[in-house]
Amino acid sequence: MVSPEFSSAHSGASPMAKPTLRSKVSVWISDGLLFLGGVFIALLVVWSLFSIASPNPNPGPDFERTIFKPPKREEEAIKCAGSANGPNLRRDSPERTFYDDPGESYSIEKTVKDWDEKRIEWLRKHPSYINGARERILMLTGSQPSACKNPIGDHLLLRFFKNKVDYCRIHGYDIFYNNAHLHPKMGSYWAKLPVVRAAMMAHPEAEWIWWVDSDALFTDMEFKLPLERYKGNNLVVHGWAHLIHEEHSWTGLNAGVFLIRNCQWSMDFIDVWAKMGPQTPDYEKWGGVLRSTFPDKAFPESDDQTGLAYLIYKEKERWADRIYLESEYYFEGYWEEIVKTLDNITERYAEIERTDAKLRRRHAEKVSEQYGAFREEHLGEAGYGKGSWRRPFITHFTGCQPCSGNHNQMYSGQSCWDGMRKALNFADNQVLRKYGFMHPHLLDSSVSDVPFDYPGSRD
Ligand SMILES: *[C@@H]1O[C@H](CO)[C@@H](O)[C@H](O)[C@H]1NC(C)=O
Repeated sequence: MVSPEFSSAHSGASPMAKPTLRSKVSVWISDGLLFLGGVFIALLVVWSLFSIASPNPNPGPDFERTIFKPPKREEEAIKCAGSANGPNLRRDSPERTFYDDPGESYSIEKTVKDWDEKRIEWLRKHPSYINGARERILMLTGSQPSACKNPIGDHLLLRFFKNKVDYCRIHGYDIFYNNAHLHPKMGSYWAKLPVVRAAMMAHPEAEWIWWVDSDALFTDMEFKLPLERYKGNNLVVHGWAHLIHEEHSWTGLNAGVFLIRNCQWSMDFIDVWAKMGPQTPDYEKWGGVLRSTFPDKAFPESDDQTGLAYLIYKEKERWADRIYLESEYYFEGYWEEIVKTLDNITERYAEIERTDAKLRRRHAEKVSEQYGAFREEHLGEAGYGKGSWRRPFITHFTGCQPCSGNHNQMYSGQSCWDGMRKALNFADNQVLRKYGFMHPHLLDSSVSDVPFDYPGSRD
């Protein structure tokens, strides 16, 4: 059931547009734009006819001369860079690759062999993807095929997804949102495995697949995965070895966010992991095995998280050595622990900016990573994870169930909803600022202009 406070909290906070001078002006502007838009489209049609007719299409002499006016030599360099270093989105190799083999399947129920060789072969035939291939990341997320039961569920999912799109745009990662059950029997927490398996085949150019649950969000838009640390590993999850091996706790790790290398090891691992799922005849048996191995497991059905903990615990030699249990920073973190720290963190970061003019400099969103590196110079003392005043990397609203509204009875719906709004606005402020606006308060959906040189120098 959706708790009544959950939905009333939303309607109370609905950011309805106020009928101000601004909206009248914008009506007028949009009429103007409609007209200009018509002119523009007409020009576009003329221009595209021209390009089709022209044997050597270029952006048009006027455009190049008046708007884009680099010195000759630089112009050459830009053109060359475009063809030599950027991925070529328009060319598929005519040569045979694994895609042409009718025996190859995207299905989680089929095994893949020699995946490393097949991937490398594909890359050789698509050389424009070789540059950067070792670090290339595809982010995956998704939700159920039908509408959310919680009346504000789809709105929340939209905001959570927007946050991931923001993060990916800033760092140049691709993202795929899936809302189909790729295996009809693998729903809820099992649904991600068929998606990961299919995405590995759909994206041979990506070295890493990064699954991020729909109820998790980036609360540090600058932090980047320390990939160098995971050189010898194929799977990274937030977890603590002693909680798995000694305490036998099913919460010794969290399977809501993981990074998995696009390689044969991962294909094999997903085969084994998925065998505990509801599509197999052994599903019930696995429920019993997992519960007896991890006695604190909260429900009897076999689930992906306990399944992962089980493989780490029981098949150490075969799998665990390639699995990195990340606990040094919030690879994903528990929202209840995090949300209450966001106000103080906001203040600490503003204080840093008051001492360093280069952090206050306005800049294009594209060059944001540079400012992340500048800020890092001030975060040496911040620490990571619990008790730190660094922005938490990923905040996970475990137990809040934004889509169904069936939040864990440990929390009130209100604390979940306020927590999400606060974290979403905290993240959004880091993005919107590059567009000149910010939420004045973390529980406020309205925005104000960011003054030049914000937040000002201390002296
Ligand atoms: C925030 O900072 C204030 C002042 O330093 C401190 O008293 C308070 O405990 C901090 N709150 C949290 C949640 O850390």
